[in-house]
Amino acid sequence: MSAFIRPDLQEFSAYRSHAAATEPQHADPIDQLDTNESSYDLPAPLKTKLAREYQMSLAANRYPDGDHGALHRAIAAYATAAAPQDSPTVTAAHITVGNGSDELIRSLLIATCVGRAGSILVAEPTFSMYKILAQTLGVEVVSVARDANTFALNLAATQAAITQATTPVRMVFMVSPNSPTGNGLTAAELTWLRSLPTDILVVVDEAYFEFSQQTTLADALQRPNWIVTRTFSKAFRLAAHRVGYAIAAPPLIDVLEKVRLPYNLPSFSQTATLLSLHHAPEILATIPEIQAERDRLITALQALPDWQVWPSDANFVYCRPTVKSLTDVFTGLYQLGSRIRQTGGGLRITIGTPAENNRTLAHLKTVLAG
Ligand SMILES: Cc1ncc(COP(=O)(O)O)c(C=O)c1O
Repeated sequence: MSAFIRPDLQEFSAYRSHAAATEPQHADPIDQLDTNESSYDLPAPLKTKLAREYQMSLAANRYPDGDHGALHRAIAAYATAAAPQDSPTVTAAHITVGNGSDELIRSLLIATCVGRAGSILVAEPTFSMYKILAQTLGVEVVSVARDANTFALNLAATQAAITQATTPVRMVFMVSPNSPTGNGLTAAELTWLRSLPTDILVVVDEAYFEFSQQTTLADALQRPNWIVTRTFSKAFRLAAHRVGYAIAAPPLIDVLEKVRLPYNLPSFSQTATLLSLHHAPEILATIPEIQAERDRLITALQALPDWQVWPSDANFVYCRPTVKSLTDVFTGLYQLGSRIRQTGGGLRITIGTPAENNRTLAHLKTVLAG
């Protein structure tokens, strides 16, 4: 590698999305159940409305709105309406938006840890981008293992990892419900997170909030060292538009605004997000079906021989074979057209349409019988 490239980048490979995979020949359609998107596109009338807005009122030659005022207000109203009763009100000053919540994770790393200012703590298996983004920024990652059966944190070991870290831990990343394992934060984990000193930022990634309805929003509004991140890529069916947001106390939001790129969110994505928030009940109407399909898939997976499956509060399930090799099962499913994720010693299956879920089950039975 060229001498001007940082040596530590040599060992990394670029993140590959499923679209880049080579497609083998088989009879069934390919089911993309590996990235936890919604299997449902936006309703056709909304797409038409969006296309019309693009044609009538979007100036392609102009930079997007770089302040996101309308978006902040609409997100704040949605977050308040979706919060449990008695939650404090979310205002526009509590919101910042990113090009996907991935961008917000990177901004958080820049704001807290870059330049050897601190390390981050992750509890694995968990969402891989925390580690990947940290490593590309030269930020040290302290990793602790979740319990192999419940995926809960070992709080004593986690606390010890923070105390013993060579570079002070400045940020703890928690996903609730966790990806890939589907479990929400336990009461003990919440108590522990709330006990952390204010020189450690607690990030609760609620990418799957609409499926779980569990939130630490009140903490983010009331604690200076707490932030909630969410995304429009999952329940809101807008993954193509790359929009995520964070909710935190205004001083922390101000810092994230400082480090983000000036025009990070294309006009078309802003318009799509505003439209989707305006039509939220219609867009989110698929959630009960997805939850029912998830429960149906879990029941069917529980009935398989030599198979382990966990409960899930999200739009995916985590499972694994107990006899057959994990990689063989993954490869067998891939060859039949079921694209799922092999990660953290198990298989994560996104909940699809009923037809997609039926095909996944049928493929799995074929692979297990082979
Ligand atoms: C836990 C978690 N956080 C964040 C993201 C990224 O979301 P976005 O599409 O907003 O970048 C994902 C995507 O799979 C995720 O699973």
